[in-house]
Amino acid sequence: QAVRLADYRPPEWLVDTVDLDVALHPTQTRVTARLALRRNPEGTPDAPVILEGDGLTLVRLALDGAPLAGSSFEASPERLALRHPPSDAFTLEIETLVDPTANTQLMGLYRTSNNYCTQCEPEGFRRITYFPDRPDVLAVYTTRIEAELDEAPVLLGNGNLVSSGPVLGASRHFAVWHDPWPKPSYLFALVGGKLAKVSDSFTTASGRQVELGIYVEEGKEARAGYAMDALKRSMRWDEEAFGREYDLDVFNIVAVSDFNMGAMENKGLNVFNDKYVLASPQTATDADYSGIEGVIAHEYFHNWTGNRITCRDWFQLCLKEGLTVFRDQEFSSDQRSRPVKRISDVRMLKAAQFTEDSGPLAHPVRPETYREINNFYTATVYEKGSEVVRMLKTLLGEEGFRKGMDLYFERHDGEAATIEDFLASFADATGHDLSQFALWYSQSGTPTLEVKGAWDEAAGTYRLDVKQSVPPTPGQSEKKPMVIPLALGLVGPDGADMPLMLGNTPVERGVVEVTQKEQSFLFTGLDAKPVPSLNRGFSAPVNLKSDLTPEDRVFLAAHDGDPFNRFDALQGLALGLLTRAARGGAADGEAALIDAAGRLLADAALDPAFKAQALALPGEGEIARELGSDVDPDAVFAVRKALRLKLGAALAGPLAETYAALGTAAPFTPDAASAGRRALRNLALDYLAVSGSDEGVARAQAQFAAADNMTDRMAALAVLAQHDRPERAAALDAFYARFERDALVIDKWFTLQAQIPEAGTLERVKALMLHPAFSMGNPNRVRALVGAFAATNPTQFNRADGAGHAFLADVVLSLDAKNPQVASRLLSAFKTWRQLEPGRRGHAEAALRRVADTPGLSPDVADIATRSLG
Ligand code: ARG
Ligand code: ZN
Repeated sequence: QAVRLADYRPPEWLVDTVDLDVALHPTQTRVTARLALRRNPEGTPDAPVILEGDGLTLVRLALDGAPLAGSSFEASPERLALRHPPSDAFTLEIETLVDPTANTQLMGLYRTSNNYCTQCEPEGFRRITYFPDRPDVLAVYTTRIEAELDEAPVLLGNGNLVSSGPVLGASRHFAVWHDPWPKPSYLFALVGGKLAKVSDSFTTASGRQVELGIYVEEGKEARAGYAMDALKRSMRWDEEAFGREYDLDVFNIVAVSDFNMGAMENKGLNVFNDKYVLASPQTATDADYSGIEGVIAHEYFHNWTGNRITCRDWFQLCLKEGLTVFRDQEFSSDQRSRPVKRISDVRMLKAAQFTEDSGPLAHPVRPETYREINNFYTATVYEKGSEVVRMLKTLLGEEGFRKGMDLYFERHDGEAATIEDFLASFADATGHDLSQFALWYSQSGTPTLEVKGAWDEAAGTYRLDVKQSVPPTPGQSEKKPMVIPLALGLVGPDGADMPLMLGNTPVERGVVEVTQKEQSFLFTGLDAKPVPSLNRGFSAPVNLKSDLTPEDRVFLAAHDGDPFNRFDALQGLALGLLTRAARGGAADGEAALIDAAGRLLADAALDPAFKAQALALPGEGEIARELGSDVDPDAVFAVRKALRLKLGAALAGPLAETYAALGTAAPFTPDAASAGRRALRNLALDYLAVSGSDEGVARAQAQFAAADNMTDRMAALAVLAQHDRPERAAALDAFYARFERDALVIDKWFTLQAQIPEAGTLERVKALMLHPAFSMGNPNRVRALVGAFAATNPTQFNRADGAGHAFLADVVLSLDAKNPQVASRLLSAFKTWRQLEPGRRGHAEAALRRVADTPGLSPDVADIATRSLG
């Protein structure tokens, strides 16, 4: 049942208009769909009409108004087929019954906190009505929604509101929404319920007045202000940065508390996980605020990259997701600090995508086959997909990139496009041949780039010898050389960049193009030996292996003109010594690292947010990935902890000064500069308490008690949580008591406990699953507790006795029947199992096998289990 990119065929039938009538009812919602079907001139003559369904109950079928006899069609819950459709164009009226209350998968039409909502991407529309449920069938939708007035006073659909009013003689009312823009079924949405509205408006560059609405649970209105602000900034930014204006009179966002993913870009009616809408200083951290800003922007930007131009098929998912992630990253960079945003994006890329790319679930940015498309909403499609777009911009330059984007919008507006279409726009707009570059979409695995430098004093030249390779990945043993845009600088002894000349030609924008397996670049006209600053700004998502010495890194950490590489120099130093120590070698180089870290901390010219990033050691996951095999997570934890202890002790004075200096009596504001100061101060708090000293713990306790905002309160609680002392239990209890009515805050309480790196944590997690605030039916709760345990507690998930692995398998199996998407996400925490040492690896394999061998698995879980086992 695998689907293959190579098997793509255009749809046999097209749908011009869809008229839906949805009579909402908790268990028996009646959906009447009138489809204007037309034979695709590019299809096969005489092709039958085959519509997809998923768990549907057909009530009635009519063709051009006449009821259809049972002999002229075949209907099952999964399919509706008309073998001999009468003509080249006709209207099909389909009545189905669906049960939103029984829908625990949260795909299609479902209930959340007594409201009705939908999630159709990628294949949920077929759970509402029979349809050619594929993204290359674009139709104009009109939706009439009807419901009990007291149950659902708010009725929302795609597009603009056409009419609304009471249904005569009944307690019901209706609303009709019309979306003039043709769209694929996955962008359909409706919402019905009791919701409070936060209103605002926006005037587009060309003068269109847009009514903005954010709908939240009653009483939460005040928490939607930041999201609204982020929305207006996003709308303006897309006009300025990409020339893209909004195209309807209404833009609505609805926050729901049960949602499988982050949010969904339905046309004119975005539906959000409330975690990415609701914020107040008392309940949301700085990370939450920036997450809201990013996701609000992301979904809004989809209006052009995803909705106006959509995907031909689901293999092209990165066409909208990679590009839209790139756009939201650029937005946040412009709103905040560009270098700090880049650093945190790269941290995340390495933690999630590089890890995925080096394990059994590795796949190309554009996969070529899938069994369950829901399993491909991955870090590779999203984050690596964004890196590929970023590389395009690096290669073509600002202007060339914008020309290519403009051409893409001009050519493909209103279409369902492919990666080939996207690349052709850039190639045609700039004259650049992108055929080799296209390998980024088809070859999986993180390329390794080995770089060696050679200084010729007499000639005044510096030669870089570059060697690239891409490791074998599932289904791809042989790889071709990639196009790697390598941004670099040659840093002179005074810390300034030296001229970057290849022969007599200056290197444009500081970027050389690596295109071959082995290549040399000879830089000329140098009057002293430089230190190369390589892959500046992380210009290519590669594993860079350079021959930089620890001294070079110390030098770059202090002097590199590229802030990303200043950060990276320090990280590289730390990673080098941590991996040596984890392998049992001597942790030499500590003195140099401490020295470099101390100087960075003392540098008054640097942004506190930058310092906080630079001084945070590489995570356990990154150390494990660097080690690559025979990983003992306890040893990784131990060496990292030991280094934190050393840094904390060695820099105690300056850290305490930093902590004191950054304290402020000013009220909380979520802006980037204030957030950066909090980040650095809380990093200092952590280092000062890492030893578990009375003084350090007391400082954290005091901050916990006095904090006027969630960022500082949570940071203090996280410090206390690391130390098995009575203060921990007291603080956790106090936190719970204060926020028990606030599910999103209690999620933080779950997560923090799931992350405790102690032997008792598994039992604690199991006990918390019985806590009244926990629910297996709510994806946020499951992710906050079980997901956090599996994905962010490497020592306890990978316990040597296998109990952590067995636990995850149990949860996945019990959740699978209820919500396969969330279950398969949880299971993908096993993606690093092969790099573990043999004992733990055996336990992981046994747990995966137990899952794989269970009969009746969902396609989602079966797919992840099988691929993970390889
Ligand atoms: N397109 C959404 C986004 O903005 C993600 C929706 C994915 N949903 C799913 N059930 N797989 O990224
Ligand atoms: Zn998206």
